[in-house]
Amino acid sequence: MIAIGSDHGGWELKQEIMAHLKERGLAYWDFGTYTSDSCDYPVYGKAVAQAVASGEYEFGILICGTGIGISITANKVPGIRAALCGDCFSAEATRAHNDANILALGGRVTGAGLALKIVDTFLDTPFSGDERHVRRISMIEG
Ligand code: RB5
Repeated sequence: MIAIGSDHGGWELKQEIMAHLKERGLAYWDFGTYTSDSCDYPVYGKAVAQAVASGEYEFGILICGTGIGISITANKVPGIRAALCGDCFSAEATRAHNDANILALGGRVTGAGLALKIVDTFLDTPFSGDERHVRRISMIEG
């Protein structure tokens, strides 16, 4: 199950991503925002990050205008490794090396075509499980 959220700056791209997830048969829950009206990205960054940290959701996808504010917010929640990605190489590497559990995107930065490929790459790449990566991840918190 995927937790998804955005502010107004990511609202439009979120609609495209949700349609894509539905097409792929992947279940998701939209934590808002539900309109394109101006709102505060920390509200949605926190909600999705807490949902993923609770273990109820395997992955999260967060979108704001740049992807920066919402990923900074998500990374304040213990257990969250949110990665802002603008290319498929980073999306693959952050799953394989960092075991990232939230993908952040910039709705005003990354076009929908590329964003959907980034989403697929992120969701379809497993964590490598290599000892050095496990060790480094454990060093992030604690
Ligand atoms: C909203 O205007 C914008 O600041 C927000 O979407 C995001 O880019 C913040 O990091």
